[in-house]
Amino acid sequence: MNLQKELTLPCGAKLSNRIAKSAMSENMSPKHHGPTTSLIHAYERWANGGAGLILTGNIMIDGRAIAEPGNVLVEDKSDFELLKKWANVVKDTGLHLWPQINHPGRQAIGVINQEVVAPSSIMTKVKGMSAFFKQPRALTEDEIWNIIHRFANTATILKEAGFTGVQIHGAHGYLISQFLSPLVNHRKDQWGGSFENRARFVLEVYRAIREKVGKNFPVGIKINSADFQRGGFTEDESIEVVKLLGAEGMDLIEVSGGTYERPIMLGADIKKSTKEREAYFLDYVKKARKFLNTPLMLTGGFRTVATMENALVEGALDIVGIARPFAVYPDIPNRIFEGKLTHLDSARPKTGIKALDSSGFVDIKWHEIQIHRLGAGKSPKPNLSAYSTLSYNLSLMFKKLMLGRSFKRSI
Ligand SMILES: Cc1cc2nc3c(=O)[nH]c(=O)nc-3n(C[C@H](O)[C@H](O)[C@H](O)COP(=O)(O)O)c2cc1C
Repeated sequence: MNLQKELTLPCGAKLSNRIAKSAMSENMSPKHHGPTTSLIHAYERWANGGAGLILTGNIMIDGRAIAEPGNVLVEDKSDFELLKKWANVVKDTGLHLWPQINHPGRQAIGVINQEVVAPSSIMTKVKGMSAFFKQPRALTEDEIWNIIHRFANTATILKEAGFTGVQIHGAHGYLISQFLSPLVNHRKDQWGGSFENRARFVLEVYRAIREKVGKNFPVGIKINSADFQRGGFTEDESIEVVKLLGAEGMDLIEVSGGTYERPIMLGADIKKSTKEREAYFLDYVKKARKFLNTPLMLTGGFRTVATMENALVEGALDIVGIARPFAVYPDIPNRIFEGKLTHLDSARPKTGIKALDSSGFVDIKWHEIQIHRLGAGKSPKPNLSAYSTLSYNLSLMFKKLMLGRSFKRSI
């Protein structure tokens, strides 16, 4: 089976098979945003599942810029012992565990951040959910360099803790994605305007990390094939960015697409024919492959082993990324390799309220609850309803935001 073949990355590290558990924000951290033992327990379950590469949910690099209330933050060594335990879940397994590091920019929940910063002062607008966001302030040149160094600082701490690589979050409308987008980046200095200027931030983030972690440590990125917004970051520009990143020595480029404003990464708004064909961004990776020798990973929509195998045989990509099914079935790779699984069940919990369903909010929160169950040592609950998802999350939010308590509620 092609899915079981080893892959050597440009830095020399080897992934033992072609299945990656893609990043899923766990939202399990208490108020000070440290990792917890239940979070680590969820990763033990994934490590027992056999994915060659396990990516963590996005980890914040700056305590002043937190995307969601339960994100992990790594900006110093205050939680170093727990980070070591977390990294240790893949010890002696031959599997890789890479933290995904992120700065949310304007896509951060307003009430948990004193101030929100972005390339330009342009607000996130999500139908029915705009109240969650704040008008951002445009970053100064010094602040931009400070964030670049913060990415490198967080990567260094995580490497020291024992993680086997790191992934930069350059997709889904967060800060790196905002710099790339002409719709959101209206800067007139060297960080905005021309394609070259808009791509400067991601390149400098990569260079700063590489300088700190050295040439033998895997550094990857998740990038949008496009933002799917009129006037936004296009497919042609995305191909140019991955060419630049490949030439710089990036080890693995994961392809996704969309933003909070257009949540294409979750399959929202995607043509029925594309969804049925599964892998949402397959056409893009086929194009990118022609210009690029860097290993490519594709995430979004993969649900049958046959489609995964075909994509590998065609040579369109090197790693199959899977996210949501892993929240419910943590041992997908082992079951595939044992020949016990050919199709991944895919839950699409819906409330019937259009704005909520198309925002991807319920989809995300439903899977988040399943991750919380994994962390609590429970079995997943595939029949969980969309309304139970909402009531669980409302009570969590109330406790965290209004009462300032870390959450504990039976799930
Ligand atoms: C609960 C949840 C949390 C997510 N958090 C992240 C994240 O932290 N970083 C990221 O790059 N993508 C995140 N995603 C997107 C997934 O990595 C993936 O791109 C998307 O779910 C499509 O893949 P799938 O069809 O295999 O689920 C998240 C998705 C879900 C459902």
